[in-house]
Order: sequence, then structure tokens, then C-alpha cells
Amino acid sequence: MRLIIKDKADDVSKWAAKYVVKRIKDFNPGPDKYFVLGLPTGGTPLGMYKYLIEYYKAGDISFKYVKTFNMDEYVGLPRNHVESYHYYMLTNFFAHVNIDPKNVHILDGNAVDLQAECAHYEMLIREAGGVHLFVGGIGPDGHIAFNEPGSSLVSRTRVKTLTQDTLEANARFFGNDIDQVPKQALTVGVGTVMDAETVMILITGWHKALALHKAIEKGVNHMWTISAFQQHPKTLILCDELATMELK
Ligand code: F6R
Repeated sequence: MRLIIKDKADDVSKWAAKYVVKRIKDFNPGPDKYFVLGLPTGGTPLGMYKYLIEYYKAGDISFKYVKTFNMDEYVGLPRNHVESYHYYMLTNFFAHVNIDPKNVHILDGNAVDLQAECAHYEMLIREAGGVHLFVGGIGPDGHIAFNEPGSSLVSRTRVKTLTQDTLEANARFFGNDIDQVPKQALTVGVGTVMDAETVMILITGWHKALALHKAIEKGVNHMWTISAFQQHPKTLILCDELATMELK
């Protein structure tokens, strides 16, 4: 595991975007050789998407031969709902770069058979040859994707009933009305992300400091699912100074 500390959140975003660009370019993708990129939503990666769009517009990178797999999606939220992860990805990234929509994969939280949708997603990742680089973020409780405390560290893509803590935390995105927050989500598992060749986790802000400490200085523990990546052969944790406050 490699820990990279930058001064500010914006430096984290820029470094992350440059790393994504470098990995894609080094891979030299083409019609028979796609680069496979795993992507998160949330507040933290917004800056990375902004820089990626900038580099694309400057002609520094093409997403023509890139396939993407997102981490998660709410169950039962229409795709065009402003809080859906489909909407987030389209408006914050995909609509601004040259990615082919057929190469974009986001779990369908409105599928008739949710379990089949999850199994199909795992199959699509396998068919793509696995994820080369999975970019992720974590919550203050150390969750990655919707793998909340207590999730199995070998979990795969599945339907997850969200904890009360998550519902309360997410109520702010739904007019502070907890009843409007979807009660379930589809999420890749910890094991799904662990299978990626490289994992890059973005952690910014003092409110994630305890999670960073648990992630890298304490043992592997299913109550802090991010700690699983101590056993991953190539994980980069990219954080700002504020997030290092609890490190020994
Ligand atoms: C993203 C995801 C989550 C977020 C985490 C942090 O698809 O599944 O793990 O990365 O909740 O969210 P922010 O960045 O909003 O603090």
C-alpha cells in the first residue's frame, strides 16, 4: 500500500486525474484493447472529474477505448433523478468526454431482478478482462462503495439494505426527509474492488481522519471495510493533510 499525501483537496484531485491519464496512456488502448476503469460518485471525486474533462478538452487524453464500471447505484430511483448515480456520472463526467455510452456500465437499480443484475455486472467485469484501475472514495466510517461497517471483506456485487446511519447521513440529499432516501442500493463488493489490478482511494478532509487511521494503521477489520486493502498488492491511498490528523 502506498500513501500519497498532498497539501489540499484540489491537489488530490489533480494528482488523481493525472494518474488516471497516465495509466490510460501507458496502456495504449485501442479497438482490441480497452482500458477498464472503475469509478466512484460522491463529493470527493468531483475535482478529479473536473480535471479529467479539462485534460480531455486540452487534447491530452481520449476515452474512446475506455470502459467504465461504477461502484454503486440506489435501488428504485429513476435514472434522471438528480440524486441517482446515473445522473451524477452523466452530468459530472460522461457528457463532457468522448466515452462511448455503450462502454459505460452502471448498476441498474430499477432492474426487475436485482440479484440477476448484480450477477450480470460481475460477469460484464469478467468479460471486460477485469478492472485495471478502480478509483474509490470512503465514508467517515470507512465504507467503500456501499460496503458499510460489518460487510464481508470478500463480498461481491449485491443488493444492500442501507443502515440507519447511512439513511440519516444521506437524508441531506433528499430534502432532509429520511423517508425519501432509498432504503436499498446495488453495490460492488469489497472483493470485487480487491480484484482490480490497481486501486486508488481518494480521502480528503478532517472528517475522514479516523477512517484513514483505521485504514492503514490498524488491522484488517470488517467494521472498517477500507482496511481490506492492506492486503491488496497495489493500492494507492491519496489524501490531503487534513485527513492525516489521526495518523501516529
Ligand atoms: C461512491 C461510494 C462511496 C463514497 C463515499 C464518500 O460511489 O460508493 O464509497 O466514495 O461515501 O463519499 P464523499 O466523497 O461524498 O465523501
